[in-house]
Amino acid sequence: MSLNNAWMQRDLAVLWHPCTQMKDHEQLPLVPIHKAQGIWLEDFEGKRYLDAVSSWWTNIFGHCNPRINERIKQQLDQLEHVMLAGFSHQPVIELSERLVQITPQGLDKVFYADNGSAGIEVALKMSHHYWLNTGQPNKKRFATISNGYHGETLATMAVSGVSLYTETYKALLMDCIKVPSPDCYYRPEGVSWEAHSRLMFEQMRQTLEEHHQELSAVILEPLVQGAGGMRMYHPIYLTLLREACDYYGVHLIVDEIAMGFGRTGTLFACEQANITPDFMVLSKALTGGYLPMAAVLTTEQIYQAFYDEYASLRAFLHSHTYTGNPLACAAALATLDIFAEDKVIENNKLLAKQMGRATEHLIDHPYVSEVRQTGMVLAIEMVKDKATKQPFAWQERRGLKVYEYAMQKGALLRPLGNVVYFIPPYIITPEQINWLAEVATEGIDLATRN
Ligand SMILES: Cc1ncc(COP(=O)(O)O)c(C=O)c1O
Repeated sequence: MSLNNAWMQRDLAVLWHPCTQMKDHEQLPLVPIHKAQGIWLEDFEGKRYLDAVSSWWTNIFGHCNPRINERIKQQLDQLEHVMLAGFSHQPVIELSERLVQITPQGLDKVFYADNGSAGIEVALKMSHHYWLNTGQPNKKRFATISNGYHGETLATMAVSGVSLYTETYKALLMDCIKVPSPDCYYRPEGVSWEAHSRLMFEQMRQTLEEHHQELSAVILEPLVQGAGGMRMYHPIYLTLLREACDYYGVHLIVDEIAMGFGRTGTLFACEQANITPDFMVLSKALTGGYLPMAAVLTTEQIYQAFYDEYASLRAFLHSHTYTGNPLACAAALATLDIFAEDKVIENNKLLAKQMGRATEHLIDHPYVSEVRQTGMVLAIEMVKDKATKQPFAWQERRGLKVYEYAMQKGALLRPLGNVVYFIPPYIITPEQINWLAEVATEGIDLATRN
């Protein structure tokens, strides 16, 4: 038995993998990874795979990055963990200071959780609790845009809209208001992203007008709806939403978990709309893709609504065991150092251009309806009918065929349904981008053949 196969057998005997129909692995080999360096993952037989999706959109500066490794090693010998209630430590203080500095003006307080979903739960709870503390208990509903994704816990699923993940559990989910997404994939021909996003905002404005008295917050992913198929919209939607939330007295929660830290072309997507949300949630690339951690940033005004005598029972009594873990903070500090010391955002502009150039021919592919891009996210949508955008039936699993082909070639291109996308680490080279585009093109040719 080959080494990979031996590890796979041991794995399948005891593990249940995330987001997986385990029966698939009767045909589809599971890939045990032995080690990783830079953009490359390597299995137990020495085969390498270019990590074109940054290991679920987290790994921005490569695997086993020497600068991040060193910082974690130093921290490990100093303090591995201490509970954050009643205690503090240097990395969490420094990280909080730096997050306050680099995020939009007005986000002055940082609360930590230990994964993205938990971070969203914090923001939802804090928002409603703020209204309770300020005497408006009726504000207990949330609004969002369709096709969003905010995690897998019950509350985060309730504010998400990707039915593949939420439909099964709908009996368990709180009732939220869903407004059609500004997703520009559906804009009529000849209409700009900006005009379409503006037009779609009208429904959100009406929702706010009608429901603001019961609404605690609007929550959404900024600019790119990741798990919903890398669907994109124009920053004007966020600018208008900020204005309307202010006008109607509703919080704005921006989920930058996937799109924060340079992914959309600016350090945070909110910058492109020139807004400060009431809550900004960060995770994934926050630690360079090393360790699970989320940060929820909010305003002094919200913080002050909780600040009182203990007996008033206004405190935010929410906790996760690993809140502010020092090792995760060390990884995050090293990540922020790389942003500060290298010209990451500037360099990404060149890489983003290269991603666009390398894939532009796919616009003419008979089974591709759109090649869209926002910064370092590039998505290619495969369709059955180019003219009508009729999708391939999901049961045909066309994306999986691209995945299998790319894996043979040594590229990790895990698709979202019929959408093949690149979310590479920022250390990718122009040559690697060209090669990835070739592999994706061949994979798409193969997968769309009948
Ligand atoms: C936009 C967004 N929000 C929240 C989450 C949930 O994060 P986690 O998987 O760490 O719970 C994700 C994960 O993909 C995400 O993309």
